[in-house]
Amino acid sequence: MKYDIKITKVKESRLPQLDFDNIPFGKVFSDHMFVANYENGAWVNPRIEPFAAFQIHPASMVLHYGQSVFEGMKASKSLHGKPMLLRPDMHAKRLNASGARMCIPEIPEDLFLEAVHTLVDLDKDWIPPKEGSALYIRPYVYATDEFIGVKPSESYTFCIFTGPVGPYYAKPVRLLAEETFVRAVKGGTGEAKAAGNYAASLLPARLAQSKGFDQVMWLDGNEFKYVQEVGTMNIFFVIDGKVVTPATDGAILKGITRYCVMDLLRDKGYTVEERPVTIHEVMEAHAAGTLQEVFGTGTAAVVSVVEAISYQGKVIEIAAAGPESISTLAKAEIDGLRSGRIEDAHNWVVPVDSPALINM
Ligand code: COI
Repeated sequence: MKYDIKITKVKESRLPQLDFDNIPFGKVFSDHMFVANYENGAWVNPRIEPFAAFQIHPASMVLHYGQSVFEGMKASKSLHGKPMLLRPDMHAKRLNASGARMCIPEIPEDLFLEAVHTLVDLDKDWIPPKEGSALYIRPYVYATDEFIGVKPSESYTFCIFTGPVGPYYAKPVRLLAEETFVRAVKGGTGEAKAAGNYAASLLPARLAQSKGFDQVMWLDGNEFKYVQEVGTMNIFFVIDGKVVTPATDGAILKGITRYCVMDLLRDKGYTVEERPVTIHEVMEAHAAGTLQEVFGTGTAAVVSVVEAISYQGKVIEIAAAGPESISTLAKAEIDGLRSGRIEDAHNWVVPVDSPALINM
């Protein structure tokens, strides 16, 4: 271990209060959190402490200017009870890519990984055993300078907390293709996992929900023609036997589950195309009877089936995902990798006490 992470454990664990069969998404938090500070050009004081509220200065820059980025990743338990992570290195890289866009200093990848491994190892008993459930891990960085004025902060807090979760969507989702609001344009912050991107999605999502939909499906901000993603996940279409997902173009989040699903489906022999997809292509494929499936991917959403899309007042209903469907296969592959039930041909799964970490 390279970093001297100081560990202060809770006096009494809250774990006995957890009902593993009834875990609401995003509301239960494990016993500990990791924290480090950025001061005078360096990340200092890496520590693990009991999970607790922060004290925050009213002029803290993050509260005014939103300089904050985050990640979402998960730890699961193998069939033999071993805690495992899926592609943690990609999450470290994406956090830094998001940070670079928002002028947030880089976090050494080995610090990120050591922090995640140490924290998950400490709270591994919080990992729900059921396949499809997991310990959600939320790393994030935010600006802490006490200052009024728009400039990059010189101090930051890097925190990681965790919490057990079940499925994000309990049932297939209904999407509204958004024709008024825009999530991101090329050159904007759409590719970064920036906190503000999600704040900007709240009003459109609320309006969509008031019309009976679960989420918006974003279209590009220039022509309202090209599908981008859903507020909570990347999107895939199965058209005439081919799997199609919008190509990342600077305005779409580079979802790690998205990359996994593309590779896993290619391994299974499916043609997977990453290319521009217009909403018209989707509506026409439905009219022609060739739109076979629609599903979203994300850390939280895993693989979530889309059952309806509304565009210009017309709602298309998509056939339910059966046991033979591609979305069912994709979800089984991700869940199977996470539980160790499926062989990890790509070496994506990293045991929490991996030798690579111990030798760091
Ligand atoms: C995730 O998929 O982990 C996200 O951060 C998205 C959010 C909807 C929970």
